[in-house]
Amino acid sequence: MQIKRVEALKPGMQLARTIYTSDGRILLSAGTILRESYIKRLIEFGYPAVYIGDPAVAARVKEPISEVTRHKAMKVLHEGFSAVKVGGTFDLAPIEDVVYSMIDEVIINSDVAVHLTDIRSHDDYTFGHSVNVCVLSIVMGIALELDQRNLAELAMGAMLHDVGKTQIPEKILLKSSKLNAVEWEEMKRHARFGFDLLRLKPELSAKAAHVAYQHHERVNGSGYPRGLVDDEIHLFARIASVADTYDAMTSDRVYRKGVPPHLALQAIAGLRGLQFDPELVDIFLKSVVPYPPGCKVELANGDVGMVVDNPRPGEIVVRLMPHEEADELEAEGPTVSLYLRADAVGPRML
Ligand SMILES: [Fe+2]
Repeated sequence: MQIKRVEALKPGMQLARTIYTSDGRILLSAGTILRESYIKRLIEFGYPAVYIGDPAVAARVKEPISEVTRHKAMKVLHEGFSAVKVGGTFDLAPIEDVVYSMIDEVIINSDVAVHLTDIRSHDDYTFGHSVNVCVLSIVMGIALELDQRNLAELAMGAMLHDVGKTQIPEKILLKSSKLNAVEWEEMKRHARFGFDLLRLKPELSAKAAHVAYQHHERVNGSGYPRGLVDDEIHLFARIASVADTYDAMTSDRVYRKGVPPHLALQAIAGLRGLQFDPELVDIFLKSVVPYPPGCKVELANGDVGMVVDNPRPGEIVVRLMPHEEADELEAEGPTVSLYLRADAVGPRML
């Protein structure tokens, strides 16, 4: 299984994972052999990359939540956010249902090194992003040994942290160039809008609403909207801010390509104690893998290979490839295990 950017796709390649539209429908199933017309459609829909390779191999790569749950979560969020846009409110119950399933699955898979392999089109950004922020927040919440109730409140807050974006004009949200000062001020209002929308839900914990309000606050006071510092920011919002920043950095956006996970993790590490709670950064770096399966890497000795497994945090298994241009995972190639140190420069991602 290999992540391949759409511009590098060629007819005859096989899709390793199913591709869904933002409303949860299947666009192309795992196992599909790509044709020119399919590749065109992927480009038109705005998918930056897809997984190529044997679907049976892809199915063996475990993730914190199942593909089915991920797409159900994106679907209910899509419906919820659409309802807010039209009527100013939405039904919390389906979102709560799926969030409980997500918590259960993350707990069951808590031995799995976390990497998130969703591929989303530009239109899907908010939904896929919200699901990832929720999963990463649950992972951190589990590491902090939060009880079930707090875990649920954290997860609901993380899932709905950007609901205020429904109140921001699309021309600002989807702008492909840098926002000007006026637009930026408008964009920043989504935090307060989110809080106001969630406070209308008496059945939702106030802590969840505060995640929406405070997820852009930073512990050194450099965040918005209120410039809160340290534990003036609720723990759940401090958790969501790390998850939000990481997922935003690694995602492709209309205006730029995402950065590889290992570089995003380095950036988060660099902001430890400045923008982010140091203890939470340490937990995050221990939980999330820098080189997910499917990444092509160059090792320090110049060998090229594909990451095929993350048996535990800090360790990756790389299957060596005959040359850099090799497209498919060579099933019979030799593998090497690498032990990564947080302070060492790891393999170079190709
Ligand atoms: Fe946000």
